[in-house]
Amino acid sequence: MRKEKALTSHRVLAAASAFFLLVAAAGGAQAQAQSGGAVAVPAKAAACAACHGADGRPVLPVYPILAGQTSRYLYLQMRDFQEGRRVNELMTPMVAGLTRDEMRELADYFSQLKPPNQSFKVDPEKARLGKLKSDETLCTMCHLGGFAGQNEIPRVAGQNYDYVVKQLDDFKARRRTNDAGNMTSVANTLSAKDIENLAHYLTGL
Ligand code: HEC
Ligand code: HEC
Repeated sequence: MRKEKALTSHRVLAAASAFFLLVAAAGGAQAQAQSGGAVAVPAKAAACAACHGADGRPVLPVYPILAGQTSRYLYLQMRDFQEGRRVNELMTPMVAGLTRDEMRELADYFSQLKPPNQSFKVDPEKARLGKLKSDETLCTMCHLGGFAGQNEIPRVAGQNYDYVVKQLDDFKARRRTNDAGNMTSVANTLSAKDIENLAHYLTGL
């Protein structure tokens, strides 16, 4: 893994040509991304904003919030999309031209941004039942207290409702299988009602 950090001139060239392709595709948004802020913005981040929002905060809840997600998890997901272990028709093409260093840079960048305050209206009764289910299923054995996540285990606290429901459905139906079985076996024990309650609980954290 480490040795990938040392860019050979070949890889620099490859990265540079991929960069120019992307600049052409991203158009004006690219200039905006390079205007900079507290955290250095990778050039490629401009291409993510259309769906994941400015600063990794999507407007539509079907898209995952990337801001504040663990860097390791973000990187591994990009790699899984690139290598076809995780598939989504919108997301898969987005990582096609990225090098591993670019993916690491993007992962580091988004992980350092502050997650947004959720605007979703949590139903307190559903959230209460969701918490009971979470305690019973020992979700936090892996996801840690408050679903804060760590390394390759994602943060789910405050994640978008629609996205969480879709992922739990996808794990259950084996449409998403890049989790080494961890989530599939958990999701198998959940009913549609459990998934709804859990998503209310998680979105409200
Ligand atoms: C055209 C829309 C679109 C664009 C542009 C896009 N994505 Fe995505 N991305 C998605 C969708 C949709 C998903 C969720 C897929 C699913 O439901 O499994 C996703 C998921 C992800 C995930 C997994 C998050 C998680 O919590 O598991 C990462 C990481 C990610 N995108 C990174 C990026 C990066 C980095 C860029 C820019 C280079 C980007 N995306 C651009 C649509 C997009
Ligand atoms: C045995 C460990 C383990 C347990 C228990 C577990 N998870 Fe997970 N969960 C994971 C791992 C690992 C991933 C990331 C899988 C991957 O790499 O694609 C994940 C992913 C997820 C995701 C998708 C996050 C995203 O951004 O796409 C959700 C939502 C989730 N878990 C919710 C739960 C809930 C709710 C429970 C309890 C009902 C639970 N998990 C129990 C390990 C676990």
